[in-house]
Amino acid sequence: MQITVGIITVSDRASRAEYDDLGGPALKEVALKNNWSVLCEAIVPDEIDRLQEAIRSFADQGCGLILTTGGTGLAARDITPEAIRGLMRVELPGFGEVMRAESMKITPNAILSRNLGAVVAQSLVIALPGKPSGAVECLGFVAGAIPHGVALAQRLPTSC
Ligand code: MTE
Repeated sequence: MQITVGIITVSDRASRAEYDDLGGPALKEVALKNNWSVLCEAIVPDEIDRLQEAIRSFADQGCGLILTTGGTGLAARDITPEAIRGLMRVELPGFGEVMRAESMKITPNAILSRNLGAVVAQSLVIALPGKPSGAVECLGFVAGAIPHGVALAQRLPTSC
């Protein structure tokens, strides 16, 4: 099964081009190394409506996997988990649990992250931290479950 990916960078400053988006390209590199096909990319500000609009649009365009980077911390404008929870059919708590537990071996600050996995429409959505290295690390911790998770979210026939 070919995994089709959408990558969304959630950042006020990157969306205003005040700094370069490093997280999106770092995730794209991982996707390409995994032989996933990157269908859609976007940079959106930390606004619930804008992020939800991008997720819906990527799901409609057939992205089986949607990765977000940024907005999972506790700053006033960090709204990524709220935006995803406002759209999701189900949350997959294991994604957040594993990303935090494994990241704690790298930095004690990982406990501050609100990373999560969820199903929105027929897409698996994974919210990763904003720091590019953290996003890549967290994606690596859960990558093994992605093919099966994407197939189940798309309701394709699959076996364990
Ligand atoms: N997870 C991993 N694997 N590696 C990291 O360096 N950084 C942490 C954490 N998770 C980090 C990580 C930090 S410093 C913060 S503040 C939280 O993710 C939230 O990140 P965000 O607000 O950029 O989304």
